Amino acid sequence: MKSGSLVANVILLLSLIPVFVIAQNSSVNPYVSSQWAPPPGYNGPMFKLSYNYPRQPPMARMNPPWLRVLQGKPLSADNSLAYLEAVKNAVAPDMKKLFFDYGHWDAAQAQWYNLPWLFRDPLHGTYQGINQDPDMFTLSHMKQNNMTTHMIVYYNELAGYTLRQVWGDDAKNPDVKKCQFLDGAIIIKAAFTTALAKDWSPMEGALEWEVFPPRIDSDGNPQAPAQVMKVAFFQLDIIVKDTKAAPKTGWVFGTLVYDKHQTGDGWDKMVPLGVMWGNDPDINSAETPNTILQENVINPMAPLYAVETLGYGGRLSGPNDGAVSQGNVIDGRLAPRVRSSSCMGCHGTAEWPLKSSLTPMFLPPVGEGSDPSYAGLTVMPRPGSPEFNRWFQDRPGTQPQDEGTTALDYDMNIAIKALPLWQKWYNSTHPMRPDQQDFVSRLPKEVRQMVEKPESTSQNGRRLRPSH
Ligand code: HEC
Repeated sequence: MKSGSLVANVILLLSLIPVFVIAQNSSVNPYVSSQWAPPPGYNGPMFKLSYNYPRQPPMARMNPPWLRVLQGKPLSADNSLAYLEAVKNAVAPDMKKLFFDYGHWDAAQAQWYNLPWLFRDPLHGTYQGINQDPDMFTLSHMKQNNMTTHMIVYYNELAGYTLRQVWGDDAKNPDVKKCQFLDGAIIIKAAFTTALAKDWSPMEGALEWEVFPPRIDSDGNPQAPAQVMKVAFFQLDIIVKDTKAAPKTGWVFGTLVYDKHQTGDGWDKMVPLGVMWGNDPDINSAETPNTILQENVINPMAPLYAVETLGYGGRLSGPNDGAVSQGNVIDGRLAPRVRSSSCMGCHGTAEWPLKSSLTPMFLPPVGEGSDPSYAGLTVMPRPGSPEFNRWFQDRPGTQPQDEGTTALDYDMNIAIKALPLWQKWYNSTHPMRPDQQDFVSRLPKEVRQMVEKPESTSQNGRRLRPSH
Protein backbone atom coordinates (compact mmCIF):
# COMPACT_ATOMS: atom_id res chain seq x y z
CA MET A 1 0.00 0.00 0.00
CA LYS A 2 1.27 3.47 -0.81
CA SER A 3 2.04 5.84 2.00
CA GLY A 4 0.11 9.07 2.17
CA SER A 5 -3.02 7.46 0.83
CA LEU A 6 -5.07 8.63 3.81
CA VAL A 7 -4.12 12.20 3.05
CA ALA A 8 -4.94 11.54 -0.59
CA ASN A 9 -8.37 10.32 0.37
CA VAL A 10 -9.03 13.37 2.49
CA ILE A 11 -8.06 15.55 -0.45
CA LEU A 12 -10.38 13.47 -2.58
CA LEU A 13 -13.19 14.02 -0.14
CA LEU A 14 -12.65 17.76 -0.23
CA SER A 15 -12.57 17.66 -3.99
CA LEU A 16 -16.14 16.41 -4.03
CA ILE A 17 -17.27 19.91 -3.23
CA PRO A 18 -18.02 21.30 -6.68
CA VAL A 19 -14.93 23.07 -7.96
CA PHE A 20 -16.47 24.62 -11.03
CA VAL A 21 -15.71 28.13 -9.88
CA ILE A 22 -12.22 28.62 -11.23
CA ALA A 23 -11.68 32.20 -12.26
CA GLN A 24 -10.98 32.06 -15.96
CA ASN A 25 -10.59 34.72 -18.52
CA SER A 26 -13.15 34.53 -21.32
CA SER A 27 -10.51 35.74 -23.77
CA VAL A 28 -8.82 32.37 -23.35
CA ASN A 29 -7.27 30.95 -26.53
CA PRO A 30 -7.88 27.20 -26.73
CA TYR A 31 -5.58 26.95 -29.74
CA VAL A 32 -2.51 28.39 -28.01
CA SER A 33 0.57 26.22 -28.68
CA SER A 34 1.61 26.35 -25.04
CA GLN A 35 0.89 28.72 -22.18
CA TRP A 36 4.56 28.83 -21.33
CA ALA A 37 7.76 30.23 -22.75
CA PRO A 38 10.71 27.94 -23.43
CA PRO A 39 13.45 27.72 -20.80
CA PRO A 40 15.83 30.72 -20.64
CA GLY A 41 18.52 30.50 -23.29
CA TYR A 42 16.69 27.87 -25.36
CA ASN A 43 16.86 28.52 -29.07
CA GLY A 44 15.92 25.16 -30.55
CA PRO A 45 12.69 24.32 -32.41
CA MET A 46 9.37 24.98 -30.68
CA PHE A 47 6.01 23.27 -30.79
CA LYS A 48 3.42 24.90 -33.05
CA LEU A 49 -0.13 23.68 -32.52
CA SER A 50 -1.56 22.58 -35.86
CA TYR A 51 -5.27 23.38 -35.98
CA ASN A 52 -6.09 24.59 -39.45
CA TYR A 53 -8.26 21.51 -39.81
CA PRO A 54 -9.67 20.66 -43.28
CA ARG A 55 -13.08 22.24 -43.96
CA GLN A 56 -14.03 19.72 -46.63
CA PRO A 57 -13.84 15.96 -46.22
CA PRO A 58 -10.51 14.94 -47.79
CA MET A 59 -10.53 12.07 -50.25
CA ALA A 60 -9.72 8.75 -48.61
CA ARG A 61 -7.06 6.71 -50.39
CA MET A 62 -8.56 4.08 -52.64
CA ASN A 63 -7.41 0.64 -51.60
CA PRO A 64 -4.67 1.83 -49.21
CA PRO A 65 -1.60 -0.39 -48.74
CA TRP A 66 -2.79 -1.76 -45.39
CA LEU A 67 -6.03 -3.03 -46.93
CA ARG A 68 -4.11 -4.44 -49.87
CA VAL A 69 -2.14 -6.57 -47.42
CA LEU A 70 -5.37 -8.28 -46.40
CA GLN A 71 -6.24 -9.31 -49.98
CA GLY A 72 -9.91 -9.23 -49.12
CA LYS A 73 -9.53 -11.54 -46.10
CA PRO A 74 -10.64 -10.58 -42.59
CA LEU A 75 -8.01 -9.51 -40.07
CA SER A 76 -6.46 -12.50 -38.32
CA ALA A 77 -3.36 -13.78 -36.62
CA ASP A 78 -1.88 -14.34 -40.10
CA ASN A 79 -2.13 -10.83 -41.49
CA SER A 80 -2.72 -8.27 -38.75
CA LEU A 81 0.94 -7.61 -37.91
CA ALA A 82 1.58 -7.09 -41.66
CA TYR A 83 -1.39 -4.67 -41.68
CA LEU A 84 0.27 -2.68 -38.89
CA GLU A 85 3.62 -2.74 -40.73
CA ALA A 86 1.88 -1.34 -43.82
CA VAL A 87 0.37 1.51 -41.80
CA LYS A 88 3.76 2.13 -40.20
CA ASN A 89 5.37 2.39 -43.64
CA ALA A 90 2.65 4.74 -44.87
CA VAL A 91 3.24 7.23 -42.04
CA ALA A 92 7.04 6.74 -42.02
CA PRO A 93 8.12 9.81 -44.05
CA ASP A 94 6.21 12.19 -41.74
CA MET A 95 6.94 10.38 -38.51
CA LYS A 96 10.67 10.10 -39.19
CA LYS A 97 10.76 13.87 -39.58
CA LEU A 98 8.78 14.45 -36.40
CA PHE A 99 10.92 12.15 -34.29
CA PHE A 100 14.37 12.24 -35.82
CA ASP A 101 14.53 15.60 -37.62
CA TYR A 102 12.36 17.80 -35.42
CA GLY A 103 13.92 21.06 -36.67
CA HIS A 104 12.35 20.39 -40.07
CA TRP A 105 8.99 19.15 -38.81
CA ASP A 106 6.08 21.31 -39.91
CA ALA A 107 2.84 19.66 -38.82
CA ALA A 108 0.59 22.11 -40.65
CA GLN A 109 2.40 21.51 -43.91
CA ALA A 110 2.41 17.74 -43.41
CA GLN A 111 -1.31 17.94 -42.53
CA TRP A 112 -1.19 16.39 -39.09
CA TYR A 113 -3.31 18.08 -36.43
CA ASN A 114 -3.54 18.58 -32.66
CA LEU A 115 -6.39 19.14 -30.22
CA PRO A 116 -7.25 22.44 -28.53
CA TRP A 117 -7.44 23.05 -24.77
CA LEU A 118 -4.58 20.85 -23.54
CA PHE A 119 -1.76 22.12 -21.33
CA ARG A 120 1.42 21.47 -23.22
CA ASP A 121 5.17 21.68 -22.99
CA PRO A 122 6.38 24.52 -25.26
CA LEU A 123 9.14 22.48 -26.93
CA HIS A 124 7.28 19.44 -28.25
CA GLY A 125 3.66 19.95 -27.24
CA THR A 126 3.69 16.96 -24.91
CA TYR A 127 1.33 16.52 -21.98
CA GLN A 128 2.02 14.36 -18.99
CA GLY A 129 0.63 10.85 -18.59
CA ILE A 130 0.89 8.08 -16.06
CA ASN A 131 3.35 7.71 -13.26
CA GLN A 132 4.72 4.28 -12.50
CA ASP A 133 6.92 2.79 -9.85
CA PRO A 134 9.46 -0.02 -10.21
CA ASP A 135 6.88 -2.58 -9.02
CA MET A 136 5.05 -2.18 -12.34
CA PHE A 137 8.08 -3.38 -14.37
CA THR A 138 9.74 -5.95 -12.12
CA LEU A 139 10.85 -8.33 -14.90
CA SER A 140 12.62 -5.62 -16.88
CA HIS A 141 14.05 -3.96 -13.73
CA MET A 142 12.80 -0.43 -14.15
CA LYS A 143 14.49 1.46 -11.31
CA GLN A 144 12.99 4.95 -11.28
CA ASN A 145 10.47 5.87 -8.60
CA ASN A 146 7.52 7.82 -9.87
CA MET A 147 8.59 7.54 -13.50
CA THR A 148 6.42 9.80 -15.63
CA THR A 149 5.50 9.59 -19.28
CA HIS A 150 5.01 12.42 -21.75
CA MET A 151 2.89 12.15 -24.85
CA ILE A 152 2.08 13.87 -28.09
CA VAL A 153 -0.94 13.05 -30.28
CA TYR A 154 -1.38 13.83 -33.99
CA TYR A 155 -4.45 13.32 -36.19
CA ASN A 156 -4.03 12.82 -39.95
CA GLU A 157 -5.86 14.86 -42.57
CA LEU A 158 -8.98 12.68 -42.62
CA ALA A 159 -9.15 12.70 -38.84
CA GLY A 160 -8.54 16.45 -38.88
CA TYR A 161 -11.78 16.93 -40.79
CA THR A 162 -13.67 15.47 -37.81
CA LEU A 163 -11.78 17.80 -35.47
CA ARG A 164 -13.09 20.76 -37.51
CA GLN A 165 -16.62 19.36 -37.23
CA VAL A 166 -16.32 19.01 -33.46
CA TRP A 167 -14.37 22.15 -32.57
CA GLY A 168 -15.19 24.70 -35.25
CA ASP A 169 -13.19 27.88 -35.58
CA ASP A 170 -12.77 28.88 -31.95
CA ALA A 171 -13.14 25.56 -30.06
CA LYS A 172 -15.49 27.21 -27.56
CA ASN A 173 -18.69 25.47 -28.57
CA PRO A 174 -17.87 21.84 -29.39
CA ASP A 175 -20.42 19.61 -31.12
CA VAL A 176 -19.89 16.15 -29.66
CA LYS A 177 -22.50 14.60 -31.94
CA LYS A 178 -20.08 15.12 -34.82
CA CYS A 179 -17.25 13.20 -33.19
CA GLN A 180 -17.26 10.35 -35.70
CA PHE A 181 -14.23 9.64 -37.85
CA LEU A 182 -14.09 8.84 -41.55
CA ASP A 183 -12.60 5.64 -42.88
CA GLY A 184 -8.90 6.24 -43.40
CA ALA A 185 -8.58 8.45 -40.30
CA ILE A 186 -5.27 7.68 -38.58
CA ILE A 187 -4.30 8.92 -35.12
CA ILE A 188 -0.87 8.48 -33.63
CA LYS A 189 0.22 8.86 -30.04
CA ALA A 190 3.90 8.82 -29.14
CA ALA A 191 4.96 8.18 -25.56
CA PHE A 192 8.23 9.06 -23.89
CA THR A 193 9.48 7.99 -20.46
CA THR A 194 11.65 9.74 -17.89
CA ALA A 195 13.28 6.36 -17.15
CA LEU A 196 16.39 6.59 -19.33
CA ALA A 197 18.84 3.72 -19.95
CA LYS A 198 20.55 4.04 -16.55
CA ASP A 199 17.21 3.37 -14.84
CA TRP A 200 15.72 1.01 -17.41
CA SER A 201 18.12 -0.95 -19.60
CA PRO A 202 15.58 -1.59 -22.43
CA MET A 203 15.90 2.15 -23.19
CA GLU A 204 19.57 1.89 -24.24
CA GLY A 205 19.98 3.72 -27.54
CA ALA A 206 16.41 5.04 -27.58
CA LEU A 207 15.71 8.45 -29.11
CA GLU A 208 15.75 11.13 -26.41
CA TRP A 209 13.76 14.35 -26.48
CA GLU A 210 13.95 17.31 -24.16
CA VAL A 211 10.59 18.35 -22.72
CA PHE A 212 9.71 21.26 -20.47
CA PRO A 213 6.47 20.05 -18.89
CA PRO A 214 4.08 22.21 -16.86
CA ARG A 215 3.75 21.00 -13.29
CA ILE A 216 0.38 20.09 -11.82
CA ASP A 217 -0.10 21.39 -8.27
CA SER A 218 -1.99 19.56 -5.55
CA ASP A 219 -5.22 21.30 -6.55
CA GLY A 220 -4.88 19.91 -10.04
CA ASN A 221 -3.95 23.23 -11.62
CA PRO A 222 -1.09 23.55 -14.08
CA GLN A 223 1.89 25.68 -13.09
CA ALA A 224 4.83 26.98 -15.09
CA PRO A 225 7.40 24.35 -16.03
CA ALA A 226 10.41 24.24 -13.75
CA GLN A 227 12.99 22.07 -15.44
CA VAL A 228 13.96 20.59 -18.76
CA MET A 229 13.75 16.81 -18.69
CA LYS A 230 15.22 14.19 -20.96
CA VAL A 231 12.76 11.53 -21.99
CA ALA A 232 13.15 8.34 -24.05
CA PHE A 233 10.82 7.35 -26.91
CA PHE A 234 9.36 3.93 -26.13
CA GLN A 235 5.84 3.52 -27.51
CA LEU A 236 4.06 4.61 -30.68
CA ASP A 237 0.34 3.90 -30.95
CA ILE A 238 -1.24 3.96 -34.39
CA ILE A 239 -4.99 3.57 -34.76
CA VAL A 240 -6.88 3.39 -38.04
CA LYS A 241 -10.57 3.89 -38.70
CA ASP A 242 -11.31 0.99 -40.98
CA THR A 243 -14.87 -0.31 -41.06
CA LYS A 244 -13.91 -2.83 -43.77
CA ALA A 245 -11.17 -4.58 -41.82
CA ALA A 246 -12.92 -4.14 -38.46
CA PRO A 247 -16.69 -4.14 -39.14
CA LYS A 248 -17.72 -4.65 -35.50
CA THR A 249 -15.83 -1.77 -33.89
CA GLY A 250 -14.69 0.26 -36.90
CA TRP A 251 -11.14 0.57 -35.57
CA VAL A 252 -7.81 -1.23 -35.73
CA PHE A 253 -5.62 -0.46 -32.72
CA GLY A 254 -1.91 -1.16 -33.13
CA THR A 255 1.14 -0.29 -31.15
CA LEU A 256 4.89 -0.26 -31.74
CA VAL A 257 7.50 -0.35 -28.99
CA TYR A 258 11.21 0.39 -28.92
CA ASP A 259 13.37 -2.73 -29.18
CA LYS A 260 17.08 -2.07 -28.60
CA HIS A 261 18.03 -5.47 -30.02
CA GLN A 262 16.80 -4.69 -33.54
CA THR A 263 19.20 -3.58 -36.23
CA GLY A 264 18.66 -0.49 -38.35
CA ASP A 265 17.81 3.08 -37.44
CA GLY A 266 15.61 4.40 -34.66
CA TRP A 267 12.49 3.98 -36.77
CA ASP A 268 13.32 0.36 -37.68
CA LYS A 269 13.69 -0.37 -33.97
CA MET A 270 10.03 0.45 -33.33
CA VAL A 271 8.54 -3.06 -33.57
CA PRO A 272 4.93 -4.18 -33.35
CA LEU A 273 3.77 -5.17 -29.87
CA GLY A 274 0.42 -6.19 -31.26
CA VAL A 275 -2.85 -5.34 -32.93
CA MET A 276 -6.46 -5.56 -31.78
CA TRP A 277 -9.70 -4.80 -33.58
CA GLY A 278 -12.15 -5.99 -30.93
CA ASN A 279 -12.32 -7.06 -27.29
CA ASP A 280 -13.24 -10.72 -27.89
CA PRO A 281 -16.42 -10.41 -25.82
CA ASP A 282 -17.22 -14.09 -26.44
CA ILE A 283 -14.08 -15.27 -24.72
CA ASN A 284 -14.21 -15.15 -20.94
CA SER A 285 -10.49 -15.11 -20.23
CA ALA A 286 -10.99 -15.29 -16.47
CA GLU A 287 -12.78 -18.63 -16.84
CA THR A 288 -10.84 -20.05 -19.80
CA PRO A 289 -7.46 -18.33 -19.76
CA ASN A 290 -6.01 -20.58 -22.46
CA THR A 291 -8.60 -19.85 -25.13
CA ILE A 292 -6.84 -18.05 -27.97
CA LEU A 293 -8.19 -14.57 -28.65
CA GLN A 294 -9.62 -14.03 -32.14
CA GLU A 295 -9.56 -10.23 -32.39
CA ASN A 296 -6.17 -9.64 -30.85
CA VAL A 297 -2.63 -10.57 -31.86
CA ILE A 298 0.58 -10.12 -29.88
CA ASN A 299 3.99 -10.21 -31.55
CA PRO A 300 5.78 -13.22 -29.99
CA MET A 301 9.13 -11.45 -30.50
CA ALA A 302 8.14 -8.25 -28.69
CA PRO A 303 10.56 -7.08 -25.97
CA LEU A 304 9.90 -8.27 -22.43
CA TYR A 305 9.30 -4.85 -20.87
CA ALA A 306 6.39 -4.34 -23.25
CA VAL A 307 4.67 -7.67 -22.61
CA GLU A 308 4.87 -7.22 -18.84
CA THR A 309 1.92 -4.87 -19.02
CA LEU A 310 -0.41 -6.61 -21.49
CA GLY A 311 -4.07 -6.33 -20.60
CA TYR A 312 -6.92 -8.61 -19.52
CA GLY A 313 -6.42 -12.17 -20.75
CA GLY A 314 -3.43 -11.02 -22.84
CA ARG A 315 -5.43 -8.38 -24.73
CA LEU A 316 -3.29 -5.65 -26.21
CA SER A 317 -2.03 -2.81 -24.06
CA GLY A 318 1.35 -1.11 -23.96
CA PRO A 319 3.80 -0.17 -21.21
CA ASN A 320 2.39 3.37 -21.27
CA ASP A 321 -1.25 2.40 -20.99
CA GLY A 322 -2.06 1.36 -17.47
CA ALA A 323 -3.95 -1.85 -18.23
CA VAL A 324 -2.39 -3.49 -15.19
CA SER A 325 -4.01 -2.28 -12.01
CA GLN A 326 -2.32 -2.39 -8.62
CA GLY A 327 -3.82 -2.34 -5.15
CA ASN A 328 -7.30 -3.74 -5.84
CA VAL A 329 -9.89 -5.37 -3.66
CA ILE A 330 -11.87 -8.07 -5.46
CA ASP A 331 -14.68 -9.81 -3.57
CA GLY A 332 -13.25 -8.45 -0.33
CA ARG A 333 -9.74 -9.79 -0.92
CA LEU A 334 -6.59 -7.95 -1.81
CA ALA A 335 -5.47 -8.45 -5.44
CA PRO A 336 -2.15 -6.64 -5.81
CA ARG A 337 -1.78 -6.83 -9.60
CA VAL A 338 -4.62 -7.42 -12.06
CA ARG A 339 -4.72 -7.20 -15.86
CA SER A 340 -7.95 -5.27 -16.11
CA SER A 341 -8.03 -3.30 -19.35
CA SER A 342 -7.04 -3.28 -23.03
CA CYS A 343 -6.61 -0.63 -25.70
CA MET A 344 -10.19 -0.92 -26.87
CA GLY A 345 -11.67 -1.77 -23.47
CA CYS A 346 -10.41 1.55 -22.17
CA HIS A 347 -11.09 3.58 -25.32
CA GLY A 348 -14.63 2.18 -25.46
CA THR A 349 -15.50 4.47 -22.54
CA ALA A 350 -15.02 7.55 -24.75
CA GLU A 351 -18.40 9.20 -24.32
CA TRP A 352 -19.85 12.57 -23.31
CA PRO A 353 -20.74 13.32 -20.67
CA LEU A 354 -18.33 10.90 -19.04
CA LYS A 355 -20.18 8.30 -17.04
CA SER A 356 -17.91 5.27 -16.68
CA SER A 357 -14.45 4.97 -15.24
CA LEU A 358 -11.85 4.07 -17.88
CA THR A 359 -11.26 0.65 -16.37
CA PRO A 360 -13.48 -1.58 -14.23
CA MET A 361 -12.79 -0.10 -10.82
CA PHE A 362 -14.49 1.95 -8.17
CA LEU A 363 -13.22 4.12 -5.38
CA PRO A 364 -14.34 2.76 -2.02
CA PRO A 365 -16.19 5.06 0.36
CA VAL A 366 -13.88 7.35 2.28
CA GLY A 367 -14.22 9.33 5.46
CA GLU A 368 -15.87 8.66 8.76
CA GLY A 369 -17.18 5.18 9.28
CA SER A 370 -15.49 3.71 6.22
CA ASP A 371 -13.19 0.72 6.46
CA PRO A 372 -9.66 2.13 6.97
CA SER A 373 -8.09 -0.97 5.44
CA TYR A 374 -9.45 0.17 2.07
CA ALA A 375 -7.45 3.41 2.17
CA GLY A 376 -5.46 3.79 -1.03
CA LEU A 377 -7.08 0.75 -2.65
CA THR A 378 -9.65 0.50 -5.39
CA VAL A 379 -12.51 -1.95 -5.66
CA MET A 380 -12.71 -4.06 -8.81
CA PRO A 381 -15.58 -6.20 -10.02
CA ARG A 382 -14.45 -9.82 -10.35
CA PRO A 383 -12.71 -10.36 -13.73
CA GLY A 384 -15.04 -12.26 -16.03
CA SER A 385 -18.19 -11.14 -14.16
CA PRO A 386 -20.95 -9.36 -16.13
CA GLU A 387 -20.07 -6.05 -14.45
CA PHE A 388 -16.39 -6.42 -15.42
CA ASN A 389 -17.30 -7.52 -18.95
CA ARG A 390 -19.09 -4.23 -19.63
CA TRP A 391 -15.58 -2.97 -20.49
CA PHE A 392 -14.91 -5.79 -22.98
CA GLN A 393 -17.60 -5.46 -25.63
CA ASP A 394 -17.44 -4.91 -29.38
CA ARG A 395 -19.42 -1.78 -30.16
CA PRO A 396 -19.33 0.53 -33.17
CA GLY A 397 -17.99 3.96 -32.24
CA THR A 398 -21.48 5.42 -32.57
CA GLN A 399 -22.72 3.46 -29.56
CA PRO A 400 -21.67 4.66 -26.10
CA GLN A 401 -20.83 2.37 -23.20
CA ASP A 402 -23.47 4.12 -21.06
CA GLU A 403 -27.00 5.02 -21.98
CA GLY A 404 -27.81 8.70 -22.11
CA THR A 405 -24.37 9.74 -23.34
CA THR A 406 -22.96 10.45 -26.80
CA ALA A 407 -20.31 8.08 -28.11
CA LEU A 408 -17.07 9.74 -29.22
CA ASP A 409 -15.92 6.98 -31.59
CA TYR A 410 -13.20 5.67 -29.23
CA ASP A 411 -11.43 9.03 -28.96
CA MET A 412 -10.03 9.33 -25.45
CA ASN A 413 -7.96 12.44 -25.94
CA ILE A 414 -11.18 14.31 -26.67
CA ALA A 415 -13.18 12.48 -23.99
CA ILE A 416 -10.94 12.86 -20.99
CA LYS A 417 -8.72 15.81 -21.85
CA ALA A 418 -10.04 18.33 -24.37
CA LEU A 419 -13.74 18.20 -23.49
CA PRO A 420 -13.34 18.28 -19.69
CA LEU A 421 -10.87 21.18 -20.01
CA TRP A 422 -13.31 22.99 -22.27
CA GLN A 423 -16.15 22.22 -19.82
CA LYS A 424 -14.17 23.59 -16.91
CA TRP A 425 -13.63 26.86 -18.76
CA TYR A 426 -17.26 26.94 -19.89
CA ASN A 427 -18.55 26.45 -16.36
CA SER A 428 -16.38 29.30 -15.18
CA THR A 429 -18.26 31.65 -17.48
CA HIS A 430 -21.72 29.98 -17.42
CA PRO A 431 -22.83 28.55 -14.08
CA MET A 432 -24.09 24.97 -14.33
CA ARG A 433 -27.81 24.42 -14.67
CA PRO A 434 -29.41 22.53 -11.75
CA ASP A 435 -29.88 19.39 -13.89
CA GLN A 436 -26.18 19.43 -14.82
CA GLN A 437 -25.20 19.90 -11.19
CA ASP A 438 -27.42 17.00 -10.32
CA PHE A 439 -25.85 14.82 -13.03
CA VAL A 440 -22.35 15.55 -11.79
CA SER A 441 -23.26 15.07 -8.14
CA ARG A 442 -24.58 11.59 -8.91
CA LEU A 443 -21.50 10.46 -10.83
CA PRO A 444 -19.35 7.82 -9.17
CA LYS A 445 -16.37 9.42 -7.43
CA GLU A 446 -13.78 8.01 -9.80
CA VAL A 447 -15.57 9.58 -12.76
CA ARG A 448 -16.33 12.87 -11.01
CA GLN A 449 -12.65 13.34 -10.41
CA MET A 450 -11.92 13.13 -14.13
CA VAL A 451 -14.54 15.77 -14.79
CA GLU A 452 -13.47 18.12 -12.04
CA LYS A 453 -9.71 17.92 -12.36
CA PRO A 454 -9.07 17.30 -16.03
CA GLU A 455 -5.54 18.70 -15.84
CA SER A 456 -4.43 15.97 -13.51
CA THR A 457 -6.17 12.98 -15.02
CA SER A 458 -4.10 12.18 -18.05
CA GLN A 459 -3.14 9.14 -16.07
CA ASN A 460 -4.91 6.69 -18.32
CA GLY A 461 -7.22 5.71 -15.56
CA ARG A 462 -4.67 3.93 -13.48
CA ARG A 463 -4.22 6.25 -10.56
CA LEU A 464 -7.17 8.49 -10.48
CA ARG A 465 -6.49 9.34 -6.88
CA PRO A 466 -4.53 12.54 -6.38
CA SER A 467 -0.87 11.64 -6.60
CA HIS A 468 0.99 11.29 -3.35
C1 HEC B 1 -6.53 2.40 -19.35
C2 HEC B 1 -6.85 3.22 -20.46
C3 HEC B 1 -6.12 3.15 -21.77
C4 HEC B 1 -5.57 2.07 -22.40
C5 HEC B 1 -5.45 0.66 -21.89
C6 HEC B 1 -5.09 2.54 -23.66
N1 HEC B 1 -5.35 3.87 -23.81
FE1 HEC B 1 -4.99 5.02 -25.45
N2 HEC B 1 -5.55 6.65 -24.44
C7 HEC B 1 -6.07 6.67 -23.17
C8 HEC B 1 -6.32 8.03 -22.77
C9 HEC B 1 -6.88 8.46 -21.44
C10 HEC B 1 -5.94 8.84 -23.85
C11 HEC B 1 -6.00 10.36 -23.99
C12 HEC B 1 -5.37 11.13 -22.94
C13 HEC B 1 -4.03 10.65 -22.55
O1 HEC B 1 -3.21 10.36 -23.42
O2 HEC B 1 -3.80 10.55 -21.36
C14 HEC B 1 -5.48 7.94 -24.89
C15 HEC B 1 -5.07 8.36 -26.15
C16 HEC B 1 -4.74 7.51 -27.18
C17 HEC B 1 -4.54 7.91 -28.54
C18 HEC B 1 -4.75 9.29 -29.11
C19 HEC B 1 -6.14 9.32 -29.77
C20 HEC B 1 -7.26 9.11 -28.79
O3 HEC B 1 -8.06 8.19 -28.94
O4 HEC B 1 -7.34 9.86 -27.84
C21 HEC B 1 -4.20 6.79 -29.24
C22 HEC B 1 -3.89 6.70 -30.73
C23 HEC B 1 -4.20 5.68 -28.30
N3 HEC B 1 -4.54 6.16 -27.06
C24 HEC B 1 -3.93 4.38 -28.64
C25 HEC B 1 -3.92 3.33 -27.72
C26 HEC B 1 -3.48 2.00 -28.04
C27 HEC B 1 -3.02 1.53 -29.40
C28 HEC B 1 -3.60 1.28 -26.89
C29 HEC B 1 -3.20 -0.14 -26.65
C30 HEC B 1 -1.89 -0.53 -27.07
C31 HEC B 1 -4.14 2.16 -25.88
N4 HEC B 1 -4.32 3.39 -26.42
C32 HEC B 1 -4.44 1.75 -24.59
C33 HEC B 1 -6.35 5.59 -22.39
C34 HEC B 1 -5.95 4.29 -22.67
